[in-house]
Amino acid sequence: MGTECLTTKLINGCKRASILHIELNSNSLNKKLFTELNDVLSFVEQFQATGDEESIDGVVFSSKKDKIFLAGADLFEMKELLDLDDRFLGEVINMGQQTFNRIEDLKIPTVACINGICLGGGYELSLACNYRIASEDAKIGLPEVNLGILPAWGGTTRLPGLIGLINTLQVILGGSPQAAKPALKKGMIDKIQHREYMVDTAVELIRSGKVKKREPKVWSNQLAGIVAFRKAKSSVMQKTKGNYPAPLKIIKVLSECQSLSRRDSLKKEKEAFLSLIKTEAMRNCLRIFFLQEKYKKYSLYEVDDMPINTTTVIGAGTMGAGIAQWFASKGRKVYLKEVNKEVAAKGMKTIGDLFVQGVHKHKFDRPTARDGIANVIPVTSDDVSLKDTDLLIEAIVEKLDVKQKVLAGIEDKISKEAIIATNTSALSIDDMAASLKHPERLIGIHFFNPVHKMQLVEIVKGTHTNPETIERAIKFIQSIGKMPIVVKDRPGFVVNRILVPYLIDACNMLDDGFEMSEIDNAMVKWGMPMGPFRLMDEIGLDICQHVAVDLYTRLPHLGGDVPNTLQELIADGFLGKKSGEGFYKYKKGKAIRKKTDDTIDIKTIQNKLVQSMVDESHKILAERVVESKDDIDFAMIMGTGFAPFRGGPLTCFASDVNV
Ligand code: NAI
Repeated sequence: MGTECLTTKLINGCKRASILHIELNSNSLNKKLFTELNDVLSFVEQFQATGDEESIDGVVFSSKKDKIFLAGADLFEMKELLDLDDRFLGEVINMGQQTFNRIEDLKIPTVACINGICLGGGYELSLACNYRIASEDAKIGLPEVNLGILPAWGGTTRLPGLIGLINTLQVILGGSPQAAKPALKKGMIDKIQHREYMVDTAVELIRSGKVKKREPKVWSNQLAGIVAFRKAKSSVMQKTKGNYPAPLKIIKVLSECQSLSRRDSLKKEKEAFLSLIKTEAMRNCLRIFFLQEKYKKYSLYEVDDMPINTTTVIGAGTMGAGIAQWFASKGRKVYLKEVNKEVAAKGMKTIGDLFVQGVHKHKFDRPTARDGIANVIPVTSDDVSLKDTDLLIEAIVEKLDVKQKVLAGIEDKISKEAIIATNTSALSIDDMAASLKHPERLIGIHFFNPVHKMQLVEIVKGTHTNPETIERAIKFIQSIGKMPIVVKDRPGFVVNRILVPYLIDACNMLDDGFEMSEIDNAMVKWGMPMGPFRLMDEIGLDICQHVAVDLYTRLPHLGGDVPNTLQELIADGFLGKKSGEGFYKYKKGKAIRKKTDDTIDIKTIQNKLVQSMVDESHKILAERVVESKDDIDFAMIMGTGFAPFRGGPLTCFASDVNV
C-alpha cells in the first residue's frame, strides 16, 4: 500500500504472523504524514496480534530517503500557525502526542530503523517505539532548545525513562545531534547496524522475541533529581545569563514531570511549548533557522556549472591552514603554498590536529580523516605546477602591496577559468584587482576564524567581478557546507565594519576609566559569546589595528585614532592569544580574568556599545552594501555570535538599546 508520505508492506513469516514495514517518504513531520500514519495505525490496531492469518505481530519503521529518517517537525507549517490563535498550535501538539501514544500503545513490538538524520519529532517518533536501530552515520537528537522551544511530542516525557535524567538533561539542553556511537553509549538507541541490514535485523529481532513490549515509563528518582536539576540550572545560567527562556523551562518541566502519569506529563509539555512559542527569543531563533535555509540554497545568476575540485591556498598561517583543512575535509585537493617552511610545517600540523579532533568528536571516521589529510599538498617552492587549480585563495598578511604582488605573480600560473579569491578582512577588492590582467575573476571570499566552526562567509564582489565568478563562488561555498552572503566592496564589508567601531569604542571606554572585565562581563550578560577585549585577543591585536586604520582612512565618519591602549600593547609585543598575552594573559589557551563585581551600571556599557553596532548597521544598509536587513542581522549572528535571541543589530528589542 502506498500513499504520498509513506508506503506499507507486509513481511510474511513462515508462520501466519506478518510484520508491517512502514517506509516514510517525507523529510519532516507534517500534517499529511500524521494523517497517513494515523490511517495505518488504525489498520494495525485492528489486526494486531489476532493470531489468525491476517495477524500483524510487529511494526518496523524506516525511511525511503537516502540520508534522513525524519528531520523533525515541518517548521514551514509551524511558522504559518505562529500568528494564529494558540488553539491551532495546541492542535499541532495534540496531533503529534496522540499519534506517538498510539504507536506506544500498540500491543505488538515496534522498531525504528534510523538511517541518517533523526531529529526532534523524528526522534520522538522513535522514542514511542520499543527498539531503535541506527546506521553508522546517523545523527540523532532533540534540537528544539536551539529554536527556543522544547520537545513537546513526548520527547521530554519519554527520554528520562529511557536514558535517565542526567543524560536527558544533557541531550535536551545541549540540543546538538549525537553521532550513532555516543547515542548508543547514552542509550538513546539500542543498536548500530549498516543501513542495508537494518530492516532485516529489526524483523529478526521481533521474530526472535527479543524486542519486548514495555510499559510507558516515567522517570522517578526524587533525590538524584534535586541535585541534577540544581546543577543543570546553574550551568544554564552561567551559559545564557538567563537570556533564553527555553532551557530554564525545560528544566522546570522535567522536574515537574518526574512522577506524573504520561497524560499529565504530556499536558505539561504542551503548556510549556505554548508559553515558549510566543516569546521574542523563540521568534528570533526561528527566523535564524529560516535565514539559514535561505543562505544555504540561494543563487544570484544562472551560469554554467563549473565544479571546483582543486584549490590552491596561499599562506599557511591561522586562516590559510583553517581554510585548507576545511576544503580538504570536503574532498577538495588543496595545494597549500607558503613561503616559510616552518610555517608550512606548523600549518600541516594544525590541519592534522583538526582532523584528529574531528574524529574524536565523531565529525568524520578515521578513513575519511586520512583521506582529508592526504588531500593537502604543502608547496614551498615555485616548482610545483598549479595548473589544475579551479579556485585560488590567498590568506597572507593584510597588506595591499604584498597581496597585489603575490596575486599578479601567480595569475599566469593557473588556468584562465580559475577563480582568484582573497580572504582579506577589509582591504578593497578593486584595489587588489588593479594588479591583475583579468580582474573579472577576482572576488573576496572572507572566511571567519576559526574556519571549522564559523559558518558565515562574506562573498565580496568588486566592480569588475563578473556574474560567473560570483555565482561559482556562492555555489562552491554552499557545497562545502558554509553560508555565503554577498556584499559590496566597501571598507570592512559587513561584519568587520560593524565590529571594529564597537571594539574601538570598548577601548575608548577603557581609556575613559571603565574596567576591562566590567566591559567584557556587561557584553556577555547582554548575550555576546565573549566580551570585546576577549574577542580582540582572539582575533589578534595587530589584525584589529590594521583593519581599524584601514577603516578610519576610508570611512571618515568613523574618525579618530587607534586608541592608546591598543597601540601600547602592540608596541610591547602583546598581540593577544597567539602571543600568550594581549588584554588578558593566557595559560594553556585559557584567559585569566580579574574578578569583578556588578556594582557598575552595566546598562550604560551595553547601551553605548550596542548602539555603536546598531548605528553602523543602519549606515551599511543605507549604502546598500548588502541587499537587506536580513543580510546584516544574519551576518552578525553567524559571523560574530551576536546574541541570537535578540535577532541581530537591526532587530534588537527596542527596550534593550536606544534605537
Ligand atoms: P597569519 O600571519 O597567521 O598568516 C599569514 C601567512 O602568510 C604567514 O604564514 C606568512 O608566512 C604567509 N605568507 C606571507 N607572504 C606569503 C607569500 N608571498 N606566499 C605564501 N605565503 C605567504 O595571518 P592570518 O591571520 O592567517 O591572516 C591572513 C589573511 O586572512 C589576512 O588577510 C587577514 O586579514 C585575513 N583574516 C584573518 C582573520 C583572523 O582572525 N586572523 C579572520 C579573517 C580574515
